[in-house]
Amino acid sequence: MQIKEINIKNFRNISEIHFFPNENMNVICGENAQGKTNIIEAIWLFTGAKSFRNNKDTIFVKFGEKKAVFDCSFFFKGCENKIKIEIEDNKKTCFLNDKKLSSPALLAGTFCSVLFSPSDLSVVKDSPGVRRKFLDLSIGQLYPQYIEILSSYTRAVIQRNKIIKEYKYDNTLSVMLDVFEKEIAQNGEKIINYRKKYIKILEKYVPEIYNGLSCGKENIEISYISNKNCENLLENLKISRKLDMISGVTSVGPHRDDIDFKINGISGRNFGSQGQQRSIALSLKLAFAEVLKEITGEYPICLLDDVMSELDPKRQNYILNHIKDWQVFLSCCDPANTDGLISGKILNIENGGIKE
Ligand SMILES: Nc1ncnc2c1ncn2[C@@H]1O[C@H](COP(=O)(O)OP(=O)(O)OP(=O)(O)O)[C@@H](O)[C@H]1O
Ligand SMILES: [Mg+2]
Repeated sequence: MQIKEINIKNFRNISEIHFFPNENMNVICGENAQGKTNIIEAIWLFTGAKSFRNNKDTIFVKFGEKKAVFDCSFFFKGCENKIKIEIEDNKKTCFLNDKKLSSPALLAGTFCSVLFSPSDLSVVKDSPGVRRKFLDLSIGQLYPQYIEILSSYTRAVIQRNKIIKEYKYDNTLSVMLDVFEKEIAQNGEKIINYRKKYIKILEKYVPEIYNGLSCGKENIEISYISNKNCENLLENLKISRKLDMISGVTSVGPHRDDIDFKINGISGRNFGSQGQQRSIALSLKLAFAEVLKEITGEYPICLLDDVMSELDPKRQNYILNHIKDWQVFLSCCDPANTDGLISGKILNIENGGIKE
């Protein structure tokens, strides 16, 4: 996948930016608060007109303006396509090849990109819930049926939690508990299988990418840590009933699972340096791009926001020069970060515009 031309108008601090990207590396360079992330965000919008920066479904028009417009033309599977997004009064109108789409979500199957933003570091640093969410979002994108299984499972766990809290006052609830535990066990086992399958897919790519980033000095292992009571989930749900009634929560099941990343045999989460943790998060994203390539036959657009900080020059060079055959948009503050760039385009950004 390759973007040929981009035009962004009245978006955040950008009045108008128009450029023809390089087919491989595009470095968006500038001081703080000049509009680098805004450009990355604008390109991301072509995947489905949703921002990655705010949870609300809002896209911010430039202060004092009424309407933001985003245009791009791109090649996918040998065909040239055009996307146009207009935002006015927080209403989105999207066009694909000049035809109005009934929903912005329809862009998702047309424009494919993978984004690394600094908040992705939480997948390594934060609690197991963040890692489960990372797994669930990635698997849901690859296997849409997983989303339904996951929501049935979550609903059943919420119901079980409600019942075990009320159980001591009403013993007749045991039949209901049986029903929900059966559902938790059936869907829980499917979820574990999907997650283990996805970890296996990641294992095909992450070790090689991580090894490249660390110039062959470090290796990574990823494993799925299943709650030890998950082997016979139904039986263990019944065994844990008494304890769960005291705590008021379901203590067994994949909603308690985690992923472990080991760098040279040591936990990356607990003992990894900042650069190592950033390298893990980045490897996971680049691996996801490889997975998408396997499915669609083409690399997605790769958006890397502020990826260079905390990385040493060797790791930076790997990013600049070794992600071959992809179109990359990478933002960074320090022009020295781009010294090792062999080929590509540098866009110097100042006050929401490209400095010539
Ligand atoms: N709706 C808006 N209208 C005008 N300006 C805005 C709007 N929303 C955000 N901005 C401004 O855009 C500026 C640039 O933001 P951006 O996040 O792109 O900076 P950046 O170049 O990525 O900086 P950093 O290096 O610190 O990450 C900010 O100063 C912000 O105040
Ligand atoms: Mg930024």
